[in-house]
Amino acid sequence: MRLPGLIDVHVHMREPGATHKEDWDSGSAAGLAGGFTTLLAMPNTQPPVVDAPSLEMALQAAGRKARCDYGQYLGAGPDNPDVLPTLAPRAAGLKMYLDQTYGPLRLGDMGLWLAHFARWPQGMPIVAHAEGRSLAAVMLLAALYARPLHLAHVSRREEILLIKAAKEKGLKVTCEVTPHHLFLSEADIPTIGTGRSEVRPRLASESDRLALWENLAVIDCFATDHAPHTLTEKDSPQPPPGFPGLETALPLLLTAVRQGRLTLEDVISRLHDQPRRIFNLPESPETWVEVDEDAAWEVRAAQNHTRCAWTPFEGQQVVGRVRQVVLRGQVAFQDGQVLAAPGSGRNVRSSRGRETS
Ligand code: DOR
Ligand code: ZN
Repeated sequence: MRLPGLIDVHVHMREPGATHKEDWDSGSAAGLAGGFTTLLAMPNTQPPVVDAPSLEMALQAAGRKARCDYGQYLGAGPDNPDVLPTLAPRAAGLKMYLDQTYGPLRLGDMGLWLAHFARWPQGMPIVAHAEGRSLAAVMLLAALYARPLHLAHVSRREEILLIKAAKEKGLKVTCEVTPHHLFLSEADIPTIGTGRSEVRPRLASESDRLALWENLAVIDCFATDHAPHTLTEKDSPQPPPGFPGLETALPLLLTAVRQGRLTLEDVISRLHDQPRRIFNLPESPETWVEVDEDAAWEVRAAQNHTRCAWTPFEGQQVVGRVRQVVLRGQVAFQDGQVLAAPGSGRNVRSSRGRETS
């Protein structure tokens, strides 16, 4: 079975600053192994991507090391509403952190939300991490400023219902849901372990999880929020939040297709068509993923390409395996082997297709 090259609009590549967790080389290898040919990377690196030098640093690293196509978000901060518009054409979009997260990029003061909405260029994506009441507030602001808004990792019943109501009123909002919020809930915490289960937004109740499935039509994209931390970190007294997800997303979703819980078209639309439309991504010619839809296997972190060396889905039985990935005419992945070279990926926002300076 052949799928289009998948697009993950929400990953954390940890470069610069925390390459012991992941870097563009290992992270893009994990992406290809999972069937993704384009990754859009979040700005909560060290330093965070909030100005020209940090954007340059992040794009240089991706340009040197990425084995698949990539984009880099800019982070909304307290000091940068005036600086970001000049950098916007080189970025995947603007990320606004409005709730508890990993790293320093949280925008507490609502006045700053206004400043960013007022200045960020029209026609360029805005993504918000907004839970509960922040979600209601940021949707109102986006409507007042007539800005399309994409809501990251929606996880709760009240949130998906709020987005449904907003869409019914004609608001220009879109949203993504992660595989971990679709397939895991609080009930899984004892199995995964308390520290390892830390993630933001948190794993929610079974009722919340079921609400996502009941409102599949409201979900525009699936996105992994691939947020690698090492096992040592996850098992420490202060475990950082985040799960790896690039290598498990497609098999979990294909298993759900096999079980009749959604259709293959539902998956393709949410991992390719809608991400491409919402984030205004270029077409990738001669790019596809060959999947053996009958291959049954068990998720094992040891087989993964991500550097973080664990998965909350350890031991899960899945059906559907990526056999081959072809990216712009080149075989990038074949039967467990990543063949694309570091640096062969292209920046989705560069007219030249590659960062050179
Ligand atoms: O669980 C999370 N991990 N949530 C976030 O918002 C950030 C992410 C990370 O970067 O580790
Ligand atoms: Zn994230």
